[in-house]
Amino acid sequence: MAPANRAAGGRRPGRGPDGLTPGGRTVSRHVHSGGPQEERTSWASSRARSPSSPARHAVRAAATPSGWRRRAPTSSPSTCWSRSGRWGTRWPRRRTWTRPSGWSRPLDRRIVAGKADVRDTAALRRAVDDGVAELGRLDIVLANAGIASFAPVEEMTDEMWDDMIAVNLTGVFKTVRAAVPHLKAGGNGGAIVLTSSTAGIMGLPNLTHYVAAKHGVVGIMKTLALELAPHMIRVNSVHPTSVDTMMIHNEQTYGTFRPDKAPSEVTRDDVGEAFQSLNALPVQWVEPVDISNAILFLVSDDGRYVTGVQLPVDAGSVIK
Ligand SMILES: NC(=O)c1ccc[n+]([C@@H]2O[C@H](COP(=O)([O-])OP(=O)(O)OC[C@H]3O[C@@H](n4cnc5c(N)ncnc54)[C@H](O)[C@@H]3O)[C@@H](O)[C@H]2O)c1
Repeated sequence: MAPANRAAGGRRPGRGPDGLTPGGRTVSRHVHSGGPQEERTSWASSRARSPSSPARHAVRAAATPSGWRRRAPTSSPSTCWSRSGRWGTRWPRRRTWTRPSGWSRPLDRRIVAGKADVRDTAALRRAVDDGVAELGRLDIVLANAGIASFAPVEEMTDEMWDDMIAVNLTGVFKTVRAAVPHLKAGGNGGAIVLTSSTAGIMGLPNLTHYVAAKHGVVGIMKTLALELAPHMIRVNSVHPTSVDTMMIHNEQTYGTFRPDKAPSEVTRDDVGEAFQSLNALPVQWVEPVDISNAILFLVSDDGRYVTGVQLPVDAGSVIK
């Protein structure tokens, strides 16, 4: 629920192209209690709006960005010889924050974390509402929760089917439904990414329920892309091949990929070749960060006109 302009590397008004305040070798940060953070070019200019002491001290301490040093102020004017050898008055330096070399501007990164079962509408709404209440608005929604199980169709139980549809399909619908009112209310557009799978593009044996759910996610994505386009809210789906997570590295999956061995004896190395056979590129699986990078593109300004798209991150699996 990070604000889109931050996640997208966007800049607040008044910043130079490097994201710093114009001219800014010296920058002060100031926090009004309970209010949004503002930046000004000097501490002195923000002092007029500060609460009075001692509250001001607390606010000032809170406003000290980590990694910054405060220049010690000179307490009163004094007369002394200047470097150029002239006798004169030295005035106290204004209090300023200086940027150590190699410094980059700290980001106002915060998180509100909550747990909710995607099958539970009330819990989902609470989690989203709490996040928005704390952070101010909602810009990006990722519906990623999912489960997997394997069985040939004649052995697939009602329970397996129902659980799969409830989490991997209905859960995506419920997640988006809880979030869309906030996206619209923000009035800034937004981006939604739904995690599907190569199983949302092609069939895969022993996964009737999973394939059905992940194809259904594409239906949700395409419909919402049209429905939300007038609000500049973009909706896309990502379609990973096997990803190096617990979803594939578990006894049940290993047993499906190596039926010749007892599931408890199958190792990661034993299944590598079978997983690689699914991909065109000679890799066994991709890493979670590969999916994250694709999602980052979709939600950032780089993808500002990309909507209604199924983006495979699949090492060529669907064209094989
Ligand atoms: N790992 C893969 O090979 C692979 C491939 C293609 C697509 N995907 C998809 O990627 C997504 C993430 O999977 P992963 O690989 O990180 O798997 P994972 O098992 O490591 O993580 C799944 C996550 O979903 C959460 N979750 C499960 N049921 C939930 C529920 N009812 N309510 C809320 N959260 C729930 C779990 O807590 C967990 O955090 C899933 O949608 C999955 O279908 C995974």
